[in-house]
Amino acid sequence: MDDIISLCKRRGFIFPGSDIYGGMAGLYDFGPYGVELLNNLKKVWWRDNVQLKPDYVGLDSAMFKNPKVWEASGHVGGFSDPLAECKECNTRIRVDKELEKVGVFADEKMSEEEINELFDAHKKEIKCPTCKKTNWSRARKFNLLVKSNLGDFTEQNTEPTYLPGEACQGIYLNYKNVVDTCRVKVPFGIAQIGKAFRNEISPRNFLFRCREFEQADTQYFVKPHENKENYERIKQEQWNWLLSLGIKAENLKWHQHENLVFYAKDAWDIEYNYPGNGFDELMGIHDRSDYDLTQHMKFSGTDLNYTDPVTNEKYIPWILETSMGLGRLFLAVICDAYTVEKDDKGNDRTVLKLKPELAPVRYAVFPLLKNKPELVEKAREVFTELSKKYPCEFDDNGNIGKRYRRQDEIGTPNCVVIDFDTLEDGTLALRDRDTTEQTRVKLEDLLTN
Ligand code: GAP
Repeated sequence: MDDIISLCKRRGFIFPGSDIYGGMAGLYDFGPYGVELLNNLKKVWWRDNVQLKPDYVGLDSAMFKNPKVWEASGHVGGFSDPLAECKECNTRIRVDKELEKVGVFADEKMSEEEINELFDAHKKEIKCPTCKKTNWSRARKFNLLVKSNLGDFTEQNTEPTYLPGEACQGIYLNYKNVVDTCRVKVPFGIAQIGKAFRNEISPRNFLFRCREFEQADTQYFVKPHENKENYERIKQEQWNWLLSLGIKAENLKWHQHENLVFYAKDAWDIEYNYPGNGFDELMGIHDRSDYDLTQHMKFSGTDLNYTDPVTNEKYIPWILETSMGLGRLFLAVICDAYTVEKDDKGNDRTVLKLKPELAPVRYAVFPLLKNKPELVEKAREVFTELSKKYPCEFDDNGNIGKRYRRQDEIGTPNCVVIDFDTLEDGTLALRDRDTTEQTRVKLEDLLTN
């Protein structure tokens, strides 16, 4: 993982948030290549989960919502983690995670008292990650919602507006609008990519646990009790979709939750084997039953019943959710693409073997020599034409070997070299990232690919 983090920073994929101020825990910025890879992941996700599915529509809801939304959703009352503080150096820990490390399971639904009973029994086994002492405060439940003062001009902030704790709430709020305007019929799905913010007590493992992150969610609305079959189908589709990105099957596994969060009837995670950290959640697939719509109906006073257009039957649809952190997906895709192999001289060659449709740069265009104006001019022409169709990069810096290495590290599937043969017969040297072999092609061949 350290090698991957280093590559991400060195090659402009990910920078620590507020880097020049010494950073800020749990926040990261996507650099020039990172944003391209992230956008490609979103594009492919949207295509496969919305555009190619006749029973899905998309949405982009406002991040800020009426504060009652978060009361109805259960987040104001129940979205918390147990926190304790080291009395020696004030370092904070998430008690359930630390208990887990010493083999003790703390259930999400446990009261503060119950968690403290467990914590008291095992405190001495848990060393402060900073000062290594074991002098802990009592555990207290800490709500993860991030507050803001949007629309509050009293400066008291007694009625905070919240940043979204999960992106999916915007879908529930718009379910009725979508039904009323878009001719959808149950069963149907609504998909959305949106930001979420959580006051994570101990953000960790690079992009894995952040305080600001993006979620790609689908919510599938089904007739009550028609959840099981759809749930199994959705689970399988999502698993296959991850494989289609080039994630290796041996690095994925299912994990069923025994202790369910407050909204779920059944919950499965697809876990990814993060290097150095092992298997952990990449995507959550939740059977949320009628919890969300019932809660919003109660709190808003708006009738959210669906009326079957054929039978006139009225019911609150049940919801099957898929929710995936895009940062975690980004990390999984980079980890499985990251390869170090020997080149023909026996030196290490680092290659990101990304699928071409995900690669930040599709073609890198080089003049063979920088000091030959006719080669540079021709290379610029090729770059201009190819860029109309693909994300391309022009590079005439340094020797050609170094230019190849750089493109290998950012995952560019092909480099296109303009050499003296190009001037003679118009063909281009096309170098393959994975085999390093070169073939001669015409520009038209690349444009019609
Ligand atoms: N709407 C359901 C929901 O938010 P979740 O399991 O809390 O469920 C869904 O989150 C996904 O969001 C997770 O599977 C994970 O990929 C991602 N995620 C959750 N917390 C995260 C964090 N602190 N940093 C990065 N990604 C996170």
